[in-house]
Amino acid sequence: MGAETIQGLPGTGVSLWLDGAEHPQRPPLKRDLEVDVAVIGGGIVGLTAALELQRGGAEVAVLEGRRVASGVSGNTTAKLSSLHGLSYDTITSTHGRDVAQIYGEANEWGVERVERLASELGIDCELRRKPNFTYTEDPARRGEIEAEAEAATAAGLSAAYVEKTDLPFEVAAAVRVERQAEFHPVKYLLGIAAALEKGGTSVFERTRAVGLTGARVRTEAGQAVLAERVIVATQLPFLDRGLFFARAYPMRSYATSVRVRTQPPLGMYLQAEQPGRSLRAARWNDEELLIVGGESHVLGRGDPVRRFKALERYARERFDVAGFEHRWSAHDYMPEDGLPYIGRAWPFSHRVLTATGMRKWGLAMGTAAARMLADEALGREHPWTASFDPWRIPPVGSAPELLKHNADAGLHFFADRVKRGGVAGLAPGEGRVIGDGLGQTAVHRDDAGRLHAVSARCTHLGCIVRWNDAERTWDCPCHGSRFETGGAVLTGPAVHPLQPKRPPTDD
Ligand SMILES: Cc1cc2nc3c(=O)[nH]c(=O)nc-3n(C[C@H](O)[C@H](O)[C@H](O)COP(=O)(O)OP(=O)(O)OC[C@H]3O[C@@H](n4cnc5c(N)ncnc54)[C@H](O)[C@@H]3O)c2cc1C
Ligand code: FES
Repeated sequence: MGAETIQGLPGTGVSLWLDGAEHPQRPPLKRDLEVDVAVIGGGIVGLTAALELQRGGAEVAVLEGRRVASGVSGNTTAKLSSLHGLSYDTITSTHGRDVAQIYGEANEWGVERVERLASELGIDCELRRKPNFTYTEDPARRGEIEAEAEAATAAGLSAAYVEKTDLPFEVAAAVRVERQAEFHPVKYLLGIAAALEKGGTSVFERTRAVGLTGARVRTEAGQAVLAERVIVATQLPFLDRGLFFARAYPMRSYATSVRVRTQPPLGMYLQAEQPGRSLRAARWNDEELLIVGGESHVLGRGDPVRRFKALERYARERFDVAGFEHRWSAHDYMPEDGLPYIGRAWPFSHRVLTATGMRKWGLAMGTAAARMLADEALGREHPWTASFDPWRIPPVGSAPELLKHNADAGLHFFADRVKRGGVAGLAPGEGRVIGDGLGQTAVHRDDAGRLHAVSARCTHLGCIVRWNDAERTWDCPCHGSRFETGGAVLTGPAVHPLQPKRPPTDD
């Protein structure tokens, strides 16, 4: 995996999990194929679903557009937990106590399942059981913490209200949940992929699905996979039919791995208030590093360089920092009513299934989702599916953030088309959108000073992309597609690259 050092930013630009991972190349699909179930996406949801299906006796193929484990599952903070910030109180009041219990049960099952699969398959993924905390430093929020501890306990978690933690600073209050876990997601997923192949399941990389007719998947290079069922595990479905892009919005977050001179905290932590911080220890080359995460914002609408610098500042203020090793960022989708969507990708068919809207908590939940999807594909009933049905009617008033996001996306569609300047002053390593209307061009100047140009119109639904200066990518503020400087798709829902254009001349 490539690692990039950008002047002034902490660490190299690769996640701790992907840096140095033994990541064997898997071949792309080169011929048409017929299987029982086609799984699109090689993250935790897709690979786990494929394994559950394989164990259930189905013939499966996995199609991954880039490399397995290189999506958000390889760029997470990797806490396997049922405690998700302040969630249970809200889920209980929005969806009822039964649903909150199912949410807790599914997540607890997910944590256990990862541990069990790792043990059965002999995957050394550095899984360590630890308590997980949601904490506040604001005494005025003690009541919320108390309410969350009560709601999480009622939902079946081993939760307690506490005011002491092993953080090197005072907290006002925290919810503590026992027997959660941290792990190395890339080692785990590469182990799952190897187990799939050992069991006869083909895992294809660099094989992007671009269309679906019935249960026939078309790939970018022209091959097709004919299946009885299709599981679309691409984080957000790349197909627009289910309108998931309008029912969940992308939130980007940032993380750094930090060398500290003292022992990193033993527990895993998430701060309740904004800007929230996420903290945990992680092994790296026989050292214990500290992961510091946070700085969430809607993708394409923040200043990534400033976000990384804020994490660096925070780490220096709160810990005795010896240096920064890695920095990475990723986004996940926030659903309209606080619950992920798991099940039918469109209402009238059970042939195409999906899971999305994991709210940045899709490791344990994604593992449970994979089991639900696999059961549905195998024609088995599952007691949790009704609660996560993508076609449920959201409770009234449960989607203010989503409504705001969709209104903003509409504004971006039009407002971003106003006339902009040229490339004067564009420094090496920078990018800028120039031109106006439908002719807008995304221009990047590489480190050698050469200009590269692609169309600035996102190939999903035509919003205008924005330059991400911390990662040197073009990001779409509407639904989360991201592109390399040359236009190749990094993350969907877009499936086609940005169109190449003739670079402008220096004026
Ligand atoms: C910064 C950050 C920190 C997080 N920390 C945690 C945490 O501590 N604990 C937790 O539980 N959750 C966490 N999450 C959330 C969690 O990582 C995700 O919810 C989970 O990994 C989602 O898994 P996935 O399989 O759906 O997606 P992915 O891992 O992204 O897998 C989807 C795959 O599909 C592929 N793909 C996309 N489109 C196509 C296509 N058209 N054809 C073929 N392949 C395609 C992609 O390349 C990708 O590999 C975090 C999220 C973020 C952003
Ligand atoms: S991601 Fe939908 S328009 Fe760009």
